[in-house]
Amino acid sequence: MIQKIGILTSGGDSPGMNACIRAVVRTGLYHNIQVLGFRKGYEGLIDNDFVELSRESVSGIIHKGGTMLKTARCPRFLTKEGQQKAVDHLLLNKLDGLVIIGGDGSFRGAIDLSKQIKLPIMGCAGTIDNDLVGTDFTIGYDTAINTVIDAIDKIRDTAESHDRVFVIEVMGRDAGLIALRSAIGGGAEALLVPELKNDLSALLEKMKKWRSTKCSKIIVVAEGDESGGAYKVADLIRKNSPELELRVTVLGHIQRGGNPSCMERVNASMVGFHAVKALLAGRKNELVGIVNNQIVYTPFEKAVKHHLSLKKDLEELIEVLSN
Ligand code: ADP
Ligand code: F6P
Repeated sequence: MIQKIGILTSGGDSPGMNACIRAVVRTGLYHNIQVLGFRKGYEGLIDNDFVELSRESVSGIIHKGGTMLKTARCPRFLTKEGQQKAVDHLLLNKLDGLVIIGGDGSFRGAIDLSKQIKLPIMGCAGTIDNDLVGTDFTIGYDTAINTVIDAIDKIRDTAESHDRVFVIEVMGRDAGLIALRSAIGGGAEALLVPELKNDLSALLEKMKKWRSTKCSKIIVVAEGDESGGAYKVADLIRKNSPELELRVTVLGHIQRGGNPSCMERVNASMVGFHAVKALLAGRKNELVGIVNNQIVYTPFEKAVKHHLSLKKDLEELIEVLSN
């Protein structure tokens, strides 16, 4: 019997988390389940800081970025004592289930919890990085890449006017998926991502051909690339091709904010709805994702294993189109 569940958002915030919270709360209430919202991710479990969520408390949030429950990176949860407090408070509140919205770190935390308490946990992938196995698009990714595209379009205007080369750094702690899609969508001339090795030397070689052409060029670099980021890449380019006029833009946290796209809101609502349905159906310790428009469930252990490769067709696409 599922009568009372908890929900929290953890790790980096991402647009669409609110839509997911709303879906979990309203699906829960529809099934007569009481929903407690823990504030600031694992901090809320450790400090027993929660609020009971009603239908009205999630009104007017579907279109808002960020998370109404707040979130945190929580070093205390990495300690034995921190995890014990979290377990104690889950037991104290007599929860029958927990929904965690977060990224790979948050689900590593969920794996730890599941070893210490027999509480069914379901996960919804909330991160702009899109670096989880078991879903095509994590909550926040679509909005983030659209934010990046908007920025690239604007930079392209000024780059074209001046015949300049721009190195644009985008987020992605260990993954180049934001960089990949925004480079394709923004028509970038080059891409540097951790999944593709030795691409920097290939880029420097390719740039020699740019010396004679007077036009704008966009290079998209993922922050996690082995080159060390946009400023380091720019230094190398300046040494290699000093005649090119070069500028750097690091997009930073604007990628994490903003109103979620329609696709984001729909997907976030779907996975939130199915997380509660999964708890009711007796599922546990899995990520709810959408793969090829189908709801799929992936054990946390597998979901956190981001594979360091890109979809071959997308890799080829960028290679051919940026030529
Ligand atoms: P995200 O979930 O977006 O990847 P983090 O990596 O910061 O963000 O993880 C969120 C929180 O999850 C961390 O602050 C920590 O409390 C917990 N966490 C992260 N990694 C682990 C781990 N290996 N084991 C247990 N808990 C973890
Ligand atoms: O995990 C999402 C993310 O935005 C990464 O792309 C980035 O490396 C990291 O979070 C930044 O984290 P913080 O906001 O804690 O500095």
